Amino acid sequence: MHAARVSVAHQKTILITGATSGIGREAAMCLACQGMRVIVAGRNPHKTGAAVECIRRESGNLAVESLLADLSSLAEVRRMANECKARYARLDVLVNNAGGFYSQRYTTVDGFERTFAVNYLAPFLLTNLLLDMLQDSAPARIVNVSSMAHIWGRLPFSNLQSEKAYSGWMAYSRSKMALIYFTYELARRLEGKGVTVNAVHPGLVKTNLQNNDTGFFNSLLRALEVFAVPMEQGAAPLVHLAAAEEVEGITGQYFSGKVQKRSHRLSYNREIARRLWRVSEDLCGLSGS
Ligand SMILES: NC(=O)c1ccc[n+]([C@@H]2O[C@H](COP(=O)([O-])OP(=O)(O)OC[C@H]3O[C@@H](n4cnc5c(N)ncnc54)[C@H](OP(=O)(O)O)[C@@H]3O)[C@@H](O)[C@H]2O)c1
Repeated sequence: MHAARVSVAHQKTILITGATSGIGREAAMCLACQGMRVIVAGRNPHKTGAAVECIRRESGNLAVESLLADLSSLAEVRRMANECKARYARLDVLVNNAGGFYSQRYTTVDGFERTFAVNYLAPFLLTNLLLDMLQDSAPARIVNVSSMAHIWGRLPFSNLQSEKAYSGWMAYSRSKMALIYFTYELARRLEGKGVTVNAVHPGLVKTNLQNNDTGFFNSLLRALEVFAVPMEQGAAPLVHLAAAEEVEGITGQYFSGKVQKRSHRLSYNREIARRLWRVSEDLCGLSGS
């Protein structure tokens, strides 16, 4: 049971993707308990509605609402961003948490490899579409949920969609590395604008991530579950980066749990970051906008 400590004074508005399950849902609960206005972003209307009801009930905070979008579709990402702008006057924190692991290669409605689309392109597009709102609400924060798995991620620009060869693990680690390049490049672009952006590895956490799919790596992850920390512990770093005063003003950093660490040395390559940004703009139809 979570203690309700709701104060609507200076209420901040936070949007969390993937808040219907796992780390995102737990973080949404904690932030609602801190009195934030929480927007639960989900793809399944029933599951999203149930999460909102549960968080309202347990936190005692009625300012918990929802937005719907299947983040594997760029059109859905755009629709959700527009709805967010139409419905809310401000956005103080955006947590790009939704993600998946797929042992088989699937393509999305836009023709992209699904891991790359959901874990990386969706947060890239959503963040870019909500940037003006975040800047208008400054000081504001963006939290990108990456993973320690990024250390295995490489970005072969001629095969970003894993058309030549596919492995779930490679696609997952690549998407998490891409998210870190995005975090660092965005932090440089946002310098002096009052919006911070950081990436976080939540730890090995017992969630549905390992159970959503079959395959060798899912079995391996399930076997490693004995080392996994509970959901509350996995959500704590997200809550920390989203709301703690100690991290106010910190930007362009990688956190493992609540501790600021160095990400893989390749993730600091600015040329790759700039190139990935340009490619992502093209893929999302943002070029020239
Ligand atoms: N668990 C770990 O050990 C671990 C470690 C490092 C990083 N992470 C990262 O932490 C984040 C949260 O994962 P989790 O462990 O909490 O897993 P989870 O329990 O499976 O939660 C994933 C969330 O993402 C949502 N989602 C997946 N695909 C989506 C789509 N196409 N459109 C919209 N929402 C979608 C899911 O929605 P539904 O509820 O509808 O399925 C769910 O809310 C992920 O980015 C993951 O990569 C996790």
